[in-house]
Amino acid sequence: MNNTDIDWSNLGFGYVPTDYNVRCHFRDGKWGEIEVSTSDKIDMHIAATALHYGQEVFEGLKAFRGKDDKIRIFRLEENAKRIRSSACGLMMEPVPVELFKEMVLKVVELNARFVPPYGTGASLYIRPIELGMTAQIGVKPASEYVFIIMVSPVGPYFKSGFKPTNICIMREFDRVAPQGTGRWKVGGNYAASLSAGEKAHSLGYSAVLYLDPKEKRYLDECGPANFYAIKDGVYVTPASDSILPSITNDSLMTIARHNGIKVEQRHVTVDELEHVDEAAACGTAAVASPVGEIDDLDTGKKYVISKDGKPGPVTTMLYNTLRGIQNGDIEDIFGWNTIL
Ligand code: PLP
Ligand code: COI
Repeated sequence: MNNTDIDWSNLGFGYVPTDYNVRCHFRDGKWGEIEVSTSDKIDMHIAATALHYGQEVFEGLKAFRGKDDKIRIFRLEENAKRIRSSACGLMMEPVPVELFKEMVLKVVELNARFVPPYGTGASLYIRPIELGMTAQIGVKPASEYVFIIMVSPVGPYFKSGFKPTNICIMREFDRVAPQGTGRWKVGGNYAASLSAGEKAHSLGYSAVLYLDPKEKRYLDECGPANFYAIKDGVYVTPASDSILPSITNDSLMTIARHNGIKVEQRHVTVDELEHVDEAAACGTAAVASPVGEIDDLDTGKKYVISKDGKPGPVTTMLYNTLRGIQNGDIEDIFGWNTIL
């Protein structure tokens, strides 16, 4: 039942208030009870480490309503593990996997009326965050943390939906350092991506295709998403220490292999874009967003990927299979859904 006045089919990727969020504090060396809150505010110390030194990690996952009206949460366990890895990267207290799962299930159940109806293309975006809460001025890890999960119904990340958009390469900005925080989902990476992202948007591009920050020779990732290309029938995606290990990319690689498509996770040079048949940005928000053209703003080179302005056949198959599994229309043979 969805008794809200939300126009589900026209939702963008933005914040829509819901009824509840859930919270849990780490104090005196242990996690406390799960709290349910109706407030979308938090009370924190002005000297908290999250505010001064960026001790903040987050996640993004989605819940979908099926034709059978059941709610499916996609790859809960993988997101639980990744936020632990991110937290360890910033010397924060990792949230136990079971606590993460319990809180996600609780917040989705409490906000079930905000899980968009089947067939609208929308989903419930689940955003867990963890913050360092200890008040201190010295640069060292906090001893107190809060873990919060908020949710918001969302539509497609790129306004065009499943249609090719253009992206660009620029060498003047790096999002992360070579052995830095790129492999973790930390707020600071996104702060560092804003200048490049805003410049790209102002030039009419949907995202920046970052190069590896050391040599600027290899492809890294695509704004808030991983990148893959289909080249001679092979699914090729960058291997890099400075990108987030995308759970969507992992899912698409699994689907590709299952369909007899060879997968290569390796260094991919910029020049290789010359011989690419399809490309896409992939992530929880982006799903698989096809790329039309990639413009290298430094060399002036334009790599036209989609010649007819349509998504390619492999990307269409991967997208439909992934969305089909998420919605419950296609059998979940990989065991990715947690059904509420
Ligand atoms: N890379 C970055 C920088 C991201 O922000 C995201 C989004 O979560 C991804 C990749 C894709 O990861 P996932 O598929 O796990 O959502
Ligand atoms: C996601 O795909 O879940 C993301 O976190 C991307 C984003 C920062 C909107």
